[in-house]
Order: sequence, then C-alpha cells, then structure tokens
Amino acid sequence: MSEVLEALRGEDIVKRFGAVTALDGVSLTLRQGEILGVLGDNGAGKSTLIKILTGFHQQTSGKLFVGGEETMLRSVDHARSLGIECVYQDLALANSLSIYHNMFLNREIIRRGPFRLLNNRAMRERAAECLEEIGVHVPSVDLPVEQLSGGQRQAIAVARAVNSNARILLLDEPLAAMGAREAGLIIDLILRLKNKGGLSIIMIMHNYAQTLDIADRVMLMQRGRVTYQREAASTSVEELMDIVRREYRAMRAAVN
Ligand SMILES: Nc1ncnc2c1ncn2[C@@H]1O[C@H](COP(=O)(O)OP(=O)(O)OP(=O)(O)O)[C@@H](O)[C@H]1O
Ligand SMILES: [Mg+2]
Repeated sequence: MSEVLEALRGEDIVKRFGAVTALDGVSLTLRQGEILGVLGDNGAGKSTLIKILTGFHQQTSGKLFVGGEETMLRSVDHARSLGIECVYQDLALANSLSIYHNMFLNREIIRRGPFRLLNNRAMRERAAECLEEIGVHVPSVDLPVEQLSGGQRQAIAVARAVNSNARILLLDEPLAAMGAREAGLIIDLILRLKNKGGLSIIMIMHNYAQTLDIADRVMLMQRGRVTYQREAASTSVEELMDIVRREYRAMRAAVN
C-alpha cells in the first residue's frame, strides 16, 4: 500500500482549561498538499485545536507529529520555525499601519549598518510582489489596512502567512462575516495557493456548502471530539446536516 505523506498529525489530544475539557481525545491527520475543512458548533473546540497545532496552547495530553516526527510545540515561534503559520479567528492586523508594514509585522526587513533602520523600500516592493503573485489586488500597498474591506483584510492576513514560507497553513474561520464576493476572493486565493503545491491547509469553516466546495476532506467536531470525517467528494450538505440535527435532537431530549 502506498503511504500518503502526512504534514501534521495529532493523536488523542486532550486540552483542559480548569474544569472545562475543550478537547476530549482528538486524533487527526493533515495529509501533505490537502485542504482539511473543520466544521462544528460554537464551543466544539475548533479554535482550541488550531491553537494547539500552532503552539499557542500546549495540550494537556496526547501527541503531535510534524512531518512524521513527534514534536512538542513550545510556542508560536517554535511552530513557525517548523513552517506552521496561522491566521486566527480574531485576526491580528494593525489597522492603522500600511498594508506593506502589516505584511512584515514582527519580521521587518532591516537595513544593514549600525542602526536598525527599517528598509521600507524593500518591504514595499516585496509586499507588492507577493500580493501580485497570489492575485490579491489592492490600490496601493501604502494604504492603511483600515481602508480595506473585510475580504481584502483577510486576504492580506492570508498573504502575510503565506509570505513567510509556511508549509502548513491553519485558518480559523477565514470567511466569517463575509459577503459572497469577499468570500469568493479568499476561496480563490486559497485554491490558487493549494494548486501551487507544497502547502497543506486546515480551515475552520461555518458554511457546509463552501467547505465541500474547497476542502479535500471534512471533519466534524462536537463537544471536544471528532465525530465524523470523510472525503469531501463522498459526503453532502444533507448528510452533514443530518448528523448535526440528530445531535441537536438528542441534546433537546436529554434536557426535556
Ligand atoms: N483560554 C480559555 N480558557 C478557558 N476556557 C476556554 C479557553 N479557550 C476556550 N475555552 C473553552 O473551550 C471550549 C472550546 O472553545 P473553542 O474556542 O475551541 O470553540 P470553537 O469550536 O472554536 O467555537 P466557535 O465556533 O464559537 O469559535 C469552550 O467551552 C470554551 O469556553
Ligand atoms: Mg473558534
């Protein structure tokens, strides 16, 4: 049997916050080059999972493997050094700074010499090149981020993550609160990145139809567990909704 190479794997991950068990034994594999879509209710543990995979939180128990090697991610910087980049649900862009400054936030290009001066020209050029390359159109990279639409802002956050040579990209609800046109921009960008090759992506999503459109595989999380996973091509919106509906009915029955 031919092995599919894995980018990232979690084995029986548990995360507790005091008395709250946010993750209750989650196992998952992200294959190299695929898009894995993660669905689930509010509070199911999706963001917590992403934060563990990106080194922001440490798991209470369970193992992580990066590129097949068991690894304890100590910090976001540690994960980043292994090629794991994240765009968080509450994205961290500095709204008053320009697009190009945002793209190099915390990894500014510095001029050579005794003073640590910013090389604005280099950053501006590189930012414009990068956006051009991935097909994000903005009037000018000098614009402050606050003058962009929600979709363009998301695109800048994704572009920043990609610009860092990420090999594993974790996106927490990149399409949240977006109109169809803006969501389309991000979906196109993500599909283009995927098609360039070498990038494996986990996306937390809200919309089932969008998820099945862009993901290779989908995974459903409920109350800190993975309750379902399947190739996107062999499931449907109806099937996913059925599972969630059944769960909802069972909960109602338990309460009443
Ligand atoms: N830092 C924290 N401290 C305490 N509890 C937390 C913390 N982060 C998350 N939790 C709890 O863990 C559970 C899972 O939260 P998480 O944010 O992972 O859910 P989610 O699936 O991302 O939900 P949403 O769809 O609303 O974003 C929730 O019960 C939440 O209250
Ligand atoms: Mg969340």
